[in-house]
Amino acid sequence: MTQDELKQAVAQAAADYVAQHAPAGSVIGVGTGSTANFFIDALAPLKSKYRGAVASSEATRKRLEGHGFAVLDLNDVDDIPVYVDGADEIDRGMHMIKGGGGALTREKIVAAVAKTFVCIADGSKLVETLGKFPLPVEVIPMARAHVARELAKLGGEPVLRQGFTTDNGNLILDVKGMAITDPVGLETRINQITGVVTNGLFAVRGANVLLLGTPEGVQTFA
Ligand code: A5P
Repeated sequence: MTQDELKQAVAQAAADYVAQHAPAGSVIGVGTGSTANFFIDALAPLKSKYRGAVASSEATRKRLEGHGFAVLDLNDVDDIPVYVDGADEIDRGMHMIKGGGGALTREKIVAAVAKTFVCIADGSKLVETLGKFPLPVEVIPMARAHVARELAKLGGEPVLRQGFTTDNGNLILDVKGMAITDPVGLETRINQITGVVTNGLFAVRGANVLLLGTPEGVQTFA
């Protein structure tokens, strides 16, 4: 199977999960990225069952609207039973690195509201230790150099993502060279640096369910 076929298989499994676990009339949280895009396509036949969706990025909002979903402002939504999103890496403790697409802050906000975070990933994303994938950190532009110095003190090598501005008008520093043995501690520590909006570690609030695409089929971890 190709990587896209694995992504499509987990996307369909996630749509099936939503159909079983999200009550009719509820609001679905939708992540960002290529796997999330396949999920949006798989969810489209169910759209009339739900009140609508909350999007974690402008790209996701456009794709949802293209399928005819009502896309709601998170401030008008009290609860989200299920949030479905991809990951750049996930470990066996359900901690993730996200933000390869730069949508980490909105993803983390929607995930914070959601009752259940369903991570959808092809098998290549499962790792023993997080950190081979550079850790994205969203930064207020005037704090870029300060935050980069502080990240270097933590042992990382921050690199400015060239030509990229987040949906929130900020910058991304991609931090290389971090072997992340304490994801909860590092997520908390980086978020304390003044000028950081958030970082791409999703460990304090990790995934509740992992649907992992493998050549042998979709494996479920919970
Ligand atoms: C977007 O900012 C990211 O968090 C994505 O969810 C993550 O990078 C996974 O993307 P793919 O499904 O495209 O690998």
